[in-house]
Amino acid sequence: MSAALYDPAAGYYARPAGQVGRGGDFFTSVSTGPLFGRLLAAHISGWWREAGSPARWRIVEAGANDGSLAEDILGSLDLPGLEYIIIEPLPQLAEALRARAPQIRVLPSADLLADDPLPSFVLGNEVLDALPFRVIESDGSGWLELGVDLAGDAFAWKALGPAPADLVAPLPLHPAGYRTEIRDNFPSFLRTMATGMRGGRMLWLDYGFDRADYYHESRTTGTLRTFSRHRAAEDPLLTPGEIDITAHVDFTALAEAAEAMGGRVIRDERQGVFLTELARPWLLSLEGRTDVGKELRAFQTLTHPGQLGAKFRVVEIAFEAAR
Ligand SMILES: C[S@@+](CC[C@H](N)C(=O)[O-])C[C@H]1O[C@@H](n2cnc3c(N)ncnc32)[C@H](O)[C@@H]1O
Repeated sequence: MSAALYDPAAGYYARPAGQVGRGGDFFTSVSTGPLFGRLLAAHISGWWREAGSPARWRIVEAGANDGSLAEDILGSLDLPGLEYIIIEPLPQLAEALRARAPQIRVLPSADLLADDPLPSFVLGNEVLDALPFRVIESDGSGWLELGVDLAGDAFAWKALGPAPADLVAPLPLHPAGYRTEIRDNFPSFLRTMATGMRGGRMLWLDYGFDRADYYHESRTTGTLRTFSRHRAAEDPLLTPGEIDITAHVDFTALAEAAEAMGGRVIRDERQGVFLTELARPWLLSLEGRTDVGKELRAFQTLTHPGQLGAKFRVVEIAFEAAR
């Protein structure tokens, strides 16, 4: 999965931008327009005030793709002392971002902020689901990890051996043939993203389940999906490098990783609930106006339970500044 998505020459995300959006392979909350960024900006402002209005502070966005969300957030934030950082490991995407938004610092890893820690608001929309995962399958008595092999001129799954015991320890064992995914990279990803934080918040927006639901006996083929031209499919081996590959987020694993590094989960709710609360002042200001149809449609897409409102969850983690 790392190679198929992130190989600097052949990976899916290394291709010229255009994967995200109505004309691309999939659309995200960001693709609905600037309202999403404006509402997040209101939330970030609230945190900044609560944190005592620090004179120097940062927003650190992971996986900003084409930079639209950064632009939308910056377009409606007018607070002093802010430095906006984008973490983008792929050099092509980083270059395109620097060209589009020269006021934003684009870094390949948040490790580079270690020398100058600041109060920070770290965020990412649909980044966790794009982090590589392992595919595992039950043989009835234990979990095997699957790898990928060349069979003739096509790729095929093959069992590599028992899955790492510590990784599968929290999972219930299911009958032979039950296939699912598991990530072991949340701890390292969160730690890296936290490198430059002197206290603050992390906000992750994504689709997923709690562990009991994710690994439920009825979910026999897991959540691995591929996306191409807005069509979901399930075989990542057909055209690797040309399609997006994703799997849902195990939000229990995310919370465990955050808590193990001293974070506190202070919010875990549906995107619809989160954004509706943030939109309240704006919604009240609309009374009597007739020129806001486009934004109201975006609001509906973002919050309606039948659209993105119930599928996406918002997890916010608080970190105290080390004393
Ligand atoms: C599905 S896209 C996110 C789209 C975008 N945030 C939006 O909402 O439209 C996933 C992004 O995560 C980035 N990414 C993957 N691994 C990352 C990492 N370790 N650190 C930061 N970004 C990463 C990818 O390069 C890609 O741009």
